Amino acid sequence: MDMTRHAVVTGASSGIGEAIARRLLADGWQVTGLSRSAPAISGAGFAHRPADLADPASLEAALQGLTATALVHAAGLMGAQPLGSLDHARGATMWQVHVQAAALLADRLAPAMPEGGRIVLLGSRTANGAAGRSHYAASKSALTGLSRSWAAELAPRGITVNLVSPAATDTPMLRDPARAHSVPKLPPIGRLIRPEEVAATVAFLLAPDAAAITGQNIVICGGSSL
Ligand SMILES: NC(=O)c1ccc[n+]([C@@H]2O[C@H](COP(=O)([O-])OP(=O)(O)OC[C@H]3O[C@@H](n4cnc5c(N)ncnc54)[C@H](OP(=O)(O)O)[C@@H]3O)[C@@H](O)[C@H]2O)c1
Repeated sequence: MDMTRHAVVTGASSGIGEAIARRLLADGWQVTGLSRSAPAISGAGFAHRPADLADPASLEAALQGLTATALVHAAGLMGAQPLGSLDHARGATMWQVHVQAAALLADRLAPAMPEGGRIVLLGSRTANGAAGRSHYAASKSALTGLSRSWAAELAPRGITVNLVSPAATDTPMLRDPARAHSVPKLPPIGRLIRPEEVAATVAFLLAPDAAAITGQNIVICGGSSL
């Protein structure tokens, strides 16, 4: 087991982030999870640092003294309202958690990342636009600009940056009352995406075999994009 591989995983307390943290631990990584609530993950190799990613000061404090060979930004929240009843406060929080926190995380962790380092951001299949989900889609589509810019910046250092964009995935987010106006669509494969399937893709992107994949958006949609 190579204990020098250390991943910082945001959103490790639930859903996709938790599945990613568990998968990386099983693969022999050390993992530091960032979230407000404590994850139900235990065992050697895992540490939790409480952080509110909507609050830059809280995130800065959680990042003190941290270095990483990989960053996976899975923390996120949904909000779905049609025009005429947009929730602007929720929209600002989505922008803070999805975009500003990603920028702060990468700004703090990328400079000391070694060759072979990895950054993966969780996007969404709906980032190209979805009725009733404009704030969410906008904050996720902004990750394209961040990830492709960082991929270009970091390629000469052997560090890759990619987006992983799932369709409806079976996590607590699907049952969030804040999305009551926009029910999730069942993918054509006839079932929801499993968080473990997203985690497997992230694990591959973090592995040496994925060293030539950078600046890409890997869509895991069960046919929803067809
Ligand atoms: N589920 C889907 O269908 C789907 C589809 C496409 C993309 N995604 C994306 O995948 C990512 C994970 O979603 P999920 O479905 O796993 O959601 P989830 O089960 O609701 O988990 C969300 C995670 O984000 C963390 N989080 C939210 N706000 C935070 C804040 N202010 N500070 C720190 N952590 C915060 C939560 O931790 P605490 O509450 O403990 O802070 C939790 O660990 C998100 O970026 C989401 O947009 C999900």
